[in-house]
Amino acid sequence: MDKIDRISIKEKRYIEEVLSGQFSSSATYQMVTRLEQSFAKVFHSKHAVAMVNGTATLHMALEAAGVQPGDEVICPPLTMSSTSIAVLQANAVPVFADVDRETFLITADAIKKVLTEKTKAIITVSLYGLSPQMQEIMELANQHGLMVIEDNAQCYGAYQDGAIVGTFGHMASYSFQSSKHLTSGEGGMVITEDDELANKLRRYSGLGYAGISGTKGRITKDDIQSPEYERHVILGWNYRMSDLCAAVALGQLERMEELVQIRRRAAEYWQEAIDGCTWLHPQLVKEGNRHSYWTYAVALEIEKVGWHEFREKWKSLGGDGIYAAWKLSYQEPMFREKAFLNREKLGIYDTYNYHQTVCPNAEFLQPRLLQFKTNYYREEEIKRQAEVLKQTIAYFNKTIR
Ligand SMILES: Cc1ncc(COP(=O)(O)O)c(C=O)c1O
Repeated sequence: MDKIDRISIKEKRYIEEVLSGQFSSSATYQMVTRLEQSFAKVFHSKHAVAMVNGTATLHMALEAAGVQPGDEVICPPLTMSSTSIAVLQANAVPVFADVDRETFLITADAIKKVLTEKTKAIITVSLYGLSPQMQEIMELANQHGLMVIEDNAQCYGAYQDGAIVGTFGHMASYSFQSSKHLTSGEGGMVITEDDELANKLRRYSGLGYAGISGTKGRITKDDIQSPEYERHVILGWNYRMSDLCAAVALGQLERMEELVQIRRRAAEYWQEAIDGCTWLHPQLVKEGNRHSYWTYAVALEIEKVGWHEFREKWKSLGGDGIYAAWKLSYQEPMFREKAFLNREKLGIYDTYNYHQTVCPNAEFLQPRLLQFKTNYYREEEIKRQAEVLKQTIAYFNKTIR
C-alpha cells in the first residue's frame, strides 16, 4: 500500500455514464439495478435492494419482517442510534440486550434474558466491523420464530466460520454513508435470500408501487402509460437510491477488497503499537472471525488513565482524532424522555421504562471505549500514527507506576 485514492477513476467513470444518460426514463435506475445485482453476487445473496441510507434500510427491513405497532425488537444499546431509531420509526418498541465485555457485541445469552411474548425480531450489530456469533443467535431466533436483521453498516468483507458476514440473518443491512468502508456519500442496501421479503423491501421503499418487486426495481413505460394504471397498492416510503449514488457505490463495491484491506492493514499497525500494553484492551476477535476493522476499538482502563487525559496527550504528540463510543441508545434524551415524535401517544411504550434499563457491560464499556481511525490511504500516515500511539503508551506507563 503506497497511496490509494478513496474515490478512483472507476467511480468517476460510472458517474459520467449516469450523466450521459440525461436521466431519461429509459436510463433511470439502470445503475441502481447494476449495483444491486453486483452487490447480491459479492454477498452470496439472492436479492439486494438499494435505498437512500442505512437507517431507511433497517426501517424497511422491520416493515418487511411484519413488525407491528407494539411488537418488541431486541437490539444492543452500544451502537450508532439508527439501529433503535429504525425500530421506533416502525412504531415498534426497542428492547435492549447487553453486549459482551470483551467482544463488545450482542450475544445469544443476553438476548435470551430480554425475550418476551411480544418479541418479534432481533437486530444484531456488527460493531466496528466484527460480527456477533451468529450461529447461536440464529438457533435461538429459530426456536422462537423470530426474524433476524443484521445491521452491517460498519461491516463489509468480514467472515465468520468461512461465510461472508451478511448471510446469516433473514436480512442484512448496509450503509454507504461517508465514514463507511464503501461510500457514496449516503446510501444503503438490504440483502436477503427470501423472495417475499425482497418483494416487500422493494415495494415499501418504492412508494408501494404496483409492478415492482425484489428483482424488478424499475417500472416500464408500458406499466404506467395507461389511465387505468393503479399505482399504489400499499402505503410505502420513498427511500429509493439515486443512480448517481449507485454509480459511486458500484465503483466502490468493485474495489471492496482493496478498501477493506486498507483498514485491516491499519489495524495491524494499531495492534502492533499496543502489544504488551496492560491498560488498553482491544476488541476480542473470536476464532473463526475475520474482522473488517471499520475502526480499531479498544477499552481503556480509565482507573489508570483518564479518557480525556489520554486524548490530550495523544493529540499533543501529533495523534489524529480519536472517537468515543456513542452514548448508549437508552441513555440518549430521546429515549429517557420518550420523545418519539407523537409515537408516545400510541400507548405502546407505557410499560417500557428506559430509565430502568440496565445493560451493565455496555454501561461499563461506553465511557472506556476509544476508536482509532483505520481509513488511512497512505502507509506513511498510519505508520506515523502508530508511532504516536507507542509514545503515548510509553508516557503513561511511566506516570502510572
Ligand atoms: C451500526 C449502524 N447502523 C446504522 C447506521 C445508519 O446508517 P446511515 O447513516 O446510512 O443512515 C450506521 C451509520 O451511520 C451505523 O453505524
